[in-house]
Amino acid sequence: MFYSLSKKILFACDAERSHDLALGTLKRLAHSPLAALWSQQIPAKPKTVAGILFENPLGLAAGLDKNADCIDAFGQMGFGFIEVGTVTPKPQLGNDKPRLFRLPEAEAIINRMGFNNKGVDYLVNNVRQSRFKGVLGINIGKNKDTPNEQGKDDYVYCMRKVYPYASYITVNISSPNTPGLRDLQFGSALLDLLQTVKNEQLDLQAQYDKYVPIFVKIAPDMDALAVQQVADTLMQSKMDGAIATNTTLDRSLVQGLAHASEAGGLSGVPLQQSSTQVLSQLRAAVGPGFPIIGVGGINCAESAKAKLAAGADLLQLYTGFIYHGPRLLKSISSAL
Ligand code: FNR
Repeated sequence: MFYSLSKKILFACDAERSHDLALGTLKRLAHSPLAALWSQQIPAKPKTVAGILFENPLGLAAGLDKNADCIDAFGQMGFGFIEVGTVTPKPQLGNDKPRLFRLPEAEAIINRMGFNNKGVDYLVNNVRQSRFKGVLGINIGKNKDTPNEQGKDDYVYCMRKVYPYASYITVNISSPNTPGLRDLQFGSALLDLLQTVKNEQLDLQAQYDKYVPIFVKIAPDMDALAVQQVADTLMQSKMDGAIATNTTLDRSLVQGLAHASEAGGLSGVPLQQSSTQVLSQLRAAVGPGFPIIGVGGINCAESAKAKLAAGADLLQLYTGFIYHGPRLLKSISSAL
């Protein structure tokens, strides 16, 4: 009821304004009695993945709460884990507006936000002030004006800042909206980056006496051979897990719809199949036991089950959550 009414209002506004309005409201009211409007109990389905105990397997995907403003509100909705970011070392504005588009006929979104965020110090300050006690992933990236050759310095910079506060850290090399970022997914650039990240993780482990697993988030726009190569590099550099997948550049399933030709990454239902295919190719390549978070087009219990069947240990939601609201968590978790 609450979400149906909010959705009517929010969907009548421009997509980014709605997003800002919704997050502003969640932030302001998270510690007021009105938080009862979105608070819900999700049945515990504890699961240990990468050495972390998750209360339930349904997480919030990165990009919705880029600055970690609303951790407490999303916790109140019952997410088993929350991934904030992508955050970069310095604040940056992102791409020009408009840069966020709804495709309601396809239950999809196209975005070319471009890592708009207030910088890692702002995010860490929010994390320190939050009351959320669950699993918190912090997703890190590089600033747009940092050349790819120095990209690893940005990842290391963010790792040092977030390490004491993160349950896990995600290395995001798969956003289509930072020019050249996806090149870091391949060949020697990937190995070099991940070896640097691994060394830094081990240094930070010694410094804080705490092991924080590293997940790598990959794109869906890869053929089986490229997935195999990424998998080999993940194993070689001893990463702790992967997140499959980010948004897609492919528009074949939305042709003819309003906004379909906007540049950026497509998410939601039209991403479901290709994202699940990459997930199953990745699972085949890494074998059992390597942690994988499945994300991309989950909008109901059936699509959630398809990700688990393809080899996901945990799941994340973004676009499905925008279209269906917090009740999606309830309906999926009761069917799992
Ligand atoms: C995203 N996504 C994303 N991912 C990421 O790692 N860092 C980010 O900053 C963002 N930003 C972002 C903004 C917007 C508006 C959307 C819709 C998505 C990708 C997201 O986490 C997820 O991987 C994909 O959207 C696929 O899942 P869904 O949306 O189909 O459930």
